[in-house]
Amino acid sequence: MGQLRLPKAGTIEIVPSILSSDFARLADELAQVKAAGVRMVHLDVMDGHFVPNITIGPPVIAKLRKHSDLVFDSHLMISEPEEYAERFVEAGVNNLTFHIEAAKRPEKLIEKLHSWGCTAGVTLNPETPVDSIKDVAPLCDMVLVMTVEPGFGAQTMMPEAAKKVVKVREMVGPEIRVEVDGGINPETAPIVVGYGADTLVAGDAIFGKSDRAAAIEAIRKAAKLTTD
Ligand code: DX5
Ligand code: ZN
Repeated sequence: MGQLRLPKAGTIEIVPSILSSDFARLADELAQVKAAGVRMVHLDVMDGHFVPNITIGPPVIAKLRKHSDLVFDSHLMISEPEEYAERFVEAGVNNLTFHIEAAKRPEKLIEKLHSWGCTAGVTLNPETPVDSIKDVAPLCDMVLVMTVEPGFGAQTMMPEAAKKVVKVREMVGPEIRVEVDGGINPETAPIVVGYGADTLVAGDAIFGKSDRAAAIEAIRKAAKLTTD
């Protein structure tokens, strides 16, 4: 599974977030979305410190790695990402996204991730200005724009935060993925794709539905209407 990579920019990717899945049946949940045709899955890591919620860490991801060949897109909502990054890479994540608000030496972290064969993403909270990532974003493989306050699933997309995608896309050009996380569904997907996003995280809109394949297809169809 060492060959798994973040897909090259230029395609729309729907990325299910496990936050709304059944954590007791994670391997099966991943198999279901894989069968529905997704290439990536979004692993939300929360430490109860950077955000007021706690989810999973490297031991769970390492076990899950044995059951899935999806690209593991990890979103570290943790303090001190530099301290823990290597353990996530060893556990098998393929992309690691850290918060600019939490990183002390983001350039160094990106360099290390690349040296470990892992792509790097940087993300910013809804109230954090896009300018805060201007030196770091060009070094990354992906920029994640948070469109809800991180910590919980099934929130409503914040329209002003979503508009930041336009500025981020201008900043990074076409070669770097721009991912959006929070409140993506068939209604909001075309809006953020219109702003320039190509990587759409969806938790509740996929794992909150009993027919995951239909839920993914509905988002994909809605997003494609913008690009066709
Ligand atoms: C929120 C997480 C998201 C979350 C999105 O802190 O980073 O990935 O799962 O959930 P939805 O799609 O339900 O808004
Ligand atoms: Zn996330």
